[in-house]
Amino acid sequence: MAKKPGTSGRGQRDLRVKVKSARGRKLSSTLWLERQLNDPYVKRAKAEGYRGRAAFKISELDDKYRFLVPGARVVDLGCAPGGWCQVAVKRVNALGEKQGKAVGRVLGVDLQEVEPIAGAETHQLDFMEDGADDKVKDWLGGKADVVMSDMAAASSGHKQTDHMRIMALCEAAAYFAFDVLDEGGTFVAKVLAGGAEGDLQKLLKQKFTKVANVKPPASRSDSSEKFVVATGFRG
Ligand SMILES: C[S@@+](CC[C@H](N)C(=O)[O-])C[C@H]1O[C@@H](n2cnc3c(N)ncnc32)[C@H](O)[C@@H]1O
Repeated sequence: MAKKPGTSGRGQRDLRVKVKSARGRKLSSTLWLERQLNDPYVKRAKAEGYRGRAAFKISELDDKYRFLVPGARVVDLGCAPGGWCQVAVKRVNALGEKQGKAVGRVLGVDLQEVEPIAGAETHQLDFMEDGADDKVKDWLGGKADVVMSDMAAASSGHKQTDHMRIMALCEAAAYFAFDVLDEGGTFVAKVLAGGAEGDLQKLLKQKFTKVANVKPPASRSDSSEKFVVATGFRG
């Protein structure tokens, strides 16, 4: 039997939002808009007050590896618009809301300006400029328990170029982590599959007791992104 338009075929209305193409809008933009409007993580982020669906990626990684514990000192590289910081603030108890638990700290940096986030300290900075790591070390003023990087340059449209760019950002984040992490600390970074991630893996294996590649459920299945989670920094 032919399916009625506007129904799922099971007697229920199809709730998927369809976006009509409009003059002046490219097909790729129409498809992007349609995907955003139908993405359950985008809806959840809105409902729960997160600045983006990325918040669920770090939540899912932390649910598995438990590095955002009360009292933890966290550095978030590439933090705009701020979803990861929002999750970290809650979980490390940066606002001291969990009575009787240690109070943590969240320090975020990004190329772009970040709207203030209660409980987090944020700075606008290009992490790849000369001396950027020293600036972050100064703001930190001591050791960290977690260094996490979601840094990614705007897509060039060329897969291998995007891969090499993100690997350069990851490598810079990793060397920064080696300098500031306390023993037992955790490093998390977003990578795009493409060949060079094996070198980062090798480097991290020398410094951490465990290194895993993870694709959390919130990461879109059609994206080549995945996350490296390195735990147990040897110091
Ligand atoms: C996917 S977004 C991060 C999303 C963020 N984790 C969140 O939850 O809102 C990637 C960010 O990396 C930042 N970025 C890219 N290159 C950077 C660099 N060299 N220094 C600092 N931030 C950078 C971009 O400005 C962008 O905001």
